[in-house]
Amino acid sequence: MKKIKISPSILSADFSQLGKEIKKLEVGGADMIHVDVMDGHFVPNLTIGPPVIKALRKYTSLPFDVHLMINPVHKYIKDYANSGADIITIHPESCESVSDSISEIKKFKKKVGLSLNPDTEIGVIKDYLGEIDMVLIMSVFPGFGGQKFINDVLEKIRNLSLIKKNLNLKFDIEVDGGINFSNFKDVLNAGANILVSGTTIFKENNGDIKKNIDFLKSI
Ligand code: DX5
Ligand code: ZN
Repeated sequence: MKKIKISPSILSADFSQLGKEIKKLEVGGADMIHVDVMDGHFVPNLTIGPPVIKALRKYTSLPFDVHLMINPVHKYIKDYANSGADIITIHPESCESVSDSISEIKKFKKKVGLSLNPDTEIGVIKDYLGEIDMVLIMSVFPGFGGQKFINDVLEKIRNLSLIKKNLNLKFDIEVDGGINFSNFKDVLNAGANILVSGTTIFKENNGDIKKNIDFLKSI
């Protein structure tokens, strides 16, 4: 039985209380904290950067699952590594050289994630699957929380899961965007083992974080 992990996205948290919100996620049973970094260039939104991540580091010992939606990305990897990121996920769409950026993340002894937008094929990252820790499949176009899950992505998750099995690889499959109580089981059955959720975790059941996280683990 695979272990399901929940990585709540703080994009949906109260940005004026991020430290306390992270504490609530830890108490509520989160396995890691999904930190959405946006630069207003790779995506049409701007969020937080290394100084804020550094300030949040002391609020939890949970891994920081840092999703870099920035372009350029390579030259900033060291700043995110030094700010306290544990998993650094980059988009090949923003890399000059994916292998150089993978090596840069590894240089800082961080886990490597590669993220695919809904319209980016698995083939773009196929050559790197043996050297990374996680593939982050976007089920919305990145930039905002609260968007609708793109169902076509289920096929991509199934295909990636099949490639992982056939090549006997160990990377995690994380899915991010629009995950809710009606679609999370389809996502897990398609082969994902880590769910990112912002809106559902922070807003459902009057914001009962523990109840919402428990429900997403209850397959
Ligand atoms: C979108 C972010 C997602 C998003 C998830 O660009 O990468 O992590 O915050 O939020 P929900 O769960 O609200 O779609
Ligand atoms: Zn994200």
